[in-house]
Parts: sequence; structure tokens; C-alpha cells
Amino acid sequence: MNLARIHLKEVGSTNSYLKEKVDRTNVLVTADYQTMGRGQGQNTWESEAERNLLFSIKVSPSHVLAKDQFVLSMAGALSIEKALEAYGSGFSLKWPNDIYYHDSKISGTLIETTIVGRSISDCIFGIGVNVNQKEFPSAPNPISLSQITKREMNREELLADIIKHFEKYYKRVEKGDYEGIYTEYNARLYRKQEYFSYEDKGGVFVARILRVEHDGHLLLEDESKALRKYEFKELKFII
Ligand code: BTN
Repeated sequence: MNLARIHLKEVGSTNSYLKEKVDRTNVLVTADYQTMGRGQGQNTWESEAERNLLFSIKVSPSHVLAKDQFVLSMAGALSIEKALEAYGSGFSLKWPNDIYYHDSKISGTLIETTIVGRSISDCIFGIGVNVNQKEFPSAPNPISLSQITKREMNREELLADIIKHFEKYYKRVEKGDYEGIYTEYNARLYRKQEYFSYEDKGGVFVARILRVEHDGHLLLEDESKALRKYEFKELKFII
């Protein structure tokens, strides 16, 4: 895959830019600053200018069936985590596709797919990685790579690493290695197998994560050994 790159000093959102202004696929859009950065659901994504990585990749995975689309989420999250692993240990994947350093969030992804028939015609991976920012006015539990390494980091080097891993994982998706990606994703899952507090619409409970299923559901076992299965946004991690 050869990604064509467009770099913008300032944009509303790199995801929206790709959706509204770019017809081609295999395109990478990077920005130094976003005026309307979007997060999952109703959330916004705030980032100081020129301090972090803000980028979106548009691909056309028509070989992936809509029912299998979570494999793209797993591949995207693994690409970021693999690149970060080179800077130290303590990184993990927080379901569905955040990257955590211990209990702090270093990266988030907003995936937007277009489905035609039973397949995915377009997929936009919108990725934010906190790289050199030191203060975060509104995010709940943020951390940046420079806070971990205690030095100023090179954003372009990290981007190149993430893209290198992304291309590898994407190739594996193309080859149909869903099982291998699924196994790697689950092996790196944040809070796996240990008891912690969670909250669903019934209130707070203690449970342990067993795994994330192929379709992206999170499977937990609570203290009374009952299984609980969640879709994204149905469950809150108490951190
Ligand atoms: C989240 O954790 O809620 C997802 C955050 C995704 C942020 C990135 S930054 C680049 C791209 N453009 C956006 O507007 N959002 C994503």
C-alpha cells in the first residue's frame, strides 16, 4: 500500500477533511492543529498546535465483510501500540481502540466506515497520539509520550513507525489473518483477567475482562461468575 500524504497546518478535523474533500483512497492526512477535533461519540479531541500527532488514513477494505469490521479496529490499535512499545513497556490496548500507558490514555482512534452491501467500501482511521503536550485542560486521564520518556519526542519518527506497522497489519487483514490479529489484540488488552470496577446501566459492579470477541463485544465475568457482554458505550471503566 502506498499512502499519498496531505499535510495541513490547520483543519477542522482530519477525518472530516478526508470524508468531504478527498475521493481517493490510500490517503494519509496529517495536521498540526484541529479546530474541531472529534472523539468517540459526542466527545471532542483537544490537542495543542504542533505538539502531537493528529492524522487520518483512508483505505478501501472492500475485502472485509461488514460483519468482520472489528478486525480493522484491532489492526489499527495494534499498529499504534506496536510503535509505542519501542519507547518502553507499560502500554496496552483499552477496548475498543484506545492505547493506555498504565492507567492513562496516550492515544485514541475514531473509525468511520462506509458500508456498501455486505462489505466495507471505505474506512477512515482517525488517530490522535499525545506526543509532546504537557498539560491537558479537559481530558480525564491523559499522558503524552514525552511525559513517559522525559524528553521531547520527534513526531515524524513516531508517525513513520505507526504507518510502517499499519501497513503490515493492513496486509494481514487483506490476507485474511483475522485469527492472528485477534489473538495479538487480546494478548495486549488493558485490565485483562484481573478484577476491577465497571459501570453499566444497572450500576457499578466488579468483574474481570475475559476477552474481546471477534465482533468487538467485550466479555466480562462478574464476582458471582455471571458472564456480561457489552457493546461499545454500554460500559464505563472506573479508573
Ligand atoms: C477518542 O479517543 O475519542 C478518539 C479520538 C480521535 C482523535 C483523532 S485526531 C485525528 C482525527 N481527526 C479527528 O477529528 N479525530 C481523530
